[in-house]
Amino acid sequence: MQTIEAPHTHPPVEVIDSRLGAALYDRFLWFGEKRGMARLRRDLLAGARGAVLEIGAGTGLNLPHYPADLDRIVLAEPGERMGGHIDLGRAPAGVPTDLVRAPAEYLPFADASFDTVVSTLVLCTVADPRRAVAEAARVLRPGGRLLFLEHVRADPGLRRTLQRRAARPWAGFADGCRCDRDTLATIEARMRIESVEHGAWRGMPGIVKPLIWGSATPAPTS
Ligand SMILES: C[S@@+](CC[C@H](N)C(=O)[O-])C[C@H]1O[C@@H](n2cnc3c(N)ncnc32)[C@H](O)[C@@H]1O
Repeated sequence: MQTIEAPHTHPPVEVIDSRLGAALYDRFLWFGEKRGMARLRRDLLAGARGAVLEIGAGTGLNLPHYPADLDRIVLAEPGERMGGHIDLGRAPAGVPTDLVRAPAEYLPFADASFDTVVSTLVLCTVADPRRAVAEAARVLRPGGRLLFLEHVRADPGLRRTLQRRAARPWAGFADGCRCDRDTLATIEARMRIESVEHGAWRGMPGIVKPLIWGSATPAPTS
């Protein structure tokens, strides 16, 4: 298990990686994990197969939830501070696991090199979610899957109004996280949705409550 420094041969990507955000991340999510998020992670990741790439891996909260029969896990996390909290030893025993410092918009991997790409609570934060989804599609092998679990823009109504008003202060508080992104539409623009479920991120502030989770496969590009 090792940390690999990816070469920076791409345009700069803004990543907000505050010391405080990284230090408090797990504690801030703790109640939500207890209230169901940990179970959602485990259920989602039960669908992971073969070689797995996780984008925006954060502090590595998904690691203990991966199945034990994977070929390898690569965690891509551009934030040095967030990534500094990852304990690769929490991966399932016997599954080779590496950490790469790379943004989701410019993945340092060949086309068709993974069976599964995982994105949990990431497309809200990346600078360019369309490019991140296109990169996920590029690195997936034919038949490969994106597994996603994301908080998203609410349906029209009070919650969406609150999201719009709170989007900027929330992004300032939560290291660039946008609470008002239509992430399902972003995925659908480049991939075919296989399954999607809608629910709530329990134990968290109302503006990040609508959650979606499911899987998608790359749609052929013309
Ligand atoms: C809300 S955290 C989610 C962490 C983790 N995936 C989880 O489920 O707990 C968002 C993560 O996205 C990372 N991030 C920010 N910009 C990114 C980018 N351009 N590409 C990939 N990850 C990015 C942040 O460093 C942070 O770790």
